[in-house]
Amino acid sequence: MHTEPRCMIGRYSVTLTLSEMAEDFSIRYASKVDKLQVTNFIELVDKEFYPPLSKREGGIPERVDKCLDTDNANFLVAEPDSSYENSLHETFIGMIGCTKNWKGNDSAYINFLATHPNCRNSGISRALCLQLEKELSKSGVNRIYLCTWSGNPAAIRFYESLGYYRYAVVLNDRGNGVNTIYYKKILICSQNMQNNNISSESR
Ligand SMILES: CC(C)(COP(=O)(O)OP(=O)(O)OC[C@H]1O[C@@H](n2cnc3c(N)ncnc32)[C@H](O)[C@@H]1OP(=O)(O)O)[C@@H](O)C(=O)NCCC(=O)NCCS
Repeated sequence: MHTEPRCMIGRYSVTLTLSEMAEDFSIRYASKVDKLQVTNFIELVDKEFYPPLSKREGGIPERVDKCLDTDNANFLVAEPDSSYENSLHETFIGMIGCTKNWKGNDSAYINFLATHPNCRNSGISRALCLQLEKELSKSGVNRIYLCTWSGNPAAIRFYESLGYYRYAVVLNDRGNGVNTIYYKKILICSQNMQNNNISSESR
């Protein structure tokens, strides 16, 4: 019997419908001991970015140092459960990176997002992104920023389907007619909601 797919992070879980996710996997924060796996995962998808992350300032090593398990940045990683094919057991199947205190302490920036090429379109990035939003919202973040580039229809459709809206486009920013597209999403902050509840209860 197939049970509902689960997405677990610590004691939190998100239940996704079967159409959103093919298999079970778990999500957790990365830590320093994951450095090699994080680096390998970025290298795996490097050339799908425009320009490749390895060609950007500082390259992949500096990105990992700045974004892995620091005071204001970390990755959430998705790991396969036993139902995934053997070749995926040693690797992450998805990863999202986030930097806090981006434009003030109530905003954050998604600095990386990718799903393993063999696991696309099964809801992994969606689960990662929703979990990140939930975690950020609990910590008082109410705005998330990110950018992508024209010529990446999968990412554009992905972010727009999750409610991110374009607020700026820099034409030909990446050369060869490729534009940088800036996105933003306003979160309903659970900390604010709790404060509102407390103040309305005490009235
Ligand atoms: C963009 C990316 C992260 C999406 O990851 P994913 O796990 O396949 O995405 P999900 O399965 O969670 O997709 C959810 C939604 O994303 C959109 N989407 C995903 N792949 C898509 C594609 N190839 N074409 C169009 N839309 C796509 C759809 O809106 C989809 O929902 P729908 O199927 O109900 O229409 C993935 O394609 C990827 O890793 N790309 C390479 C790295 C990259 O470009 N990262 C973003 C940099 S800003």
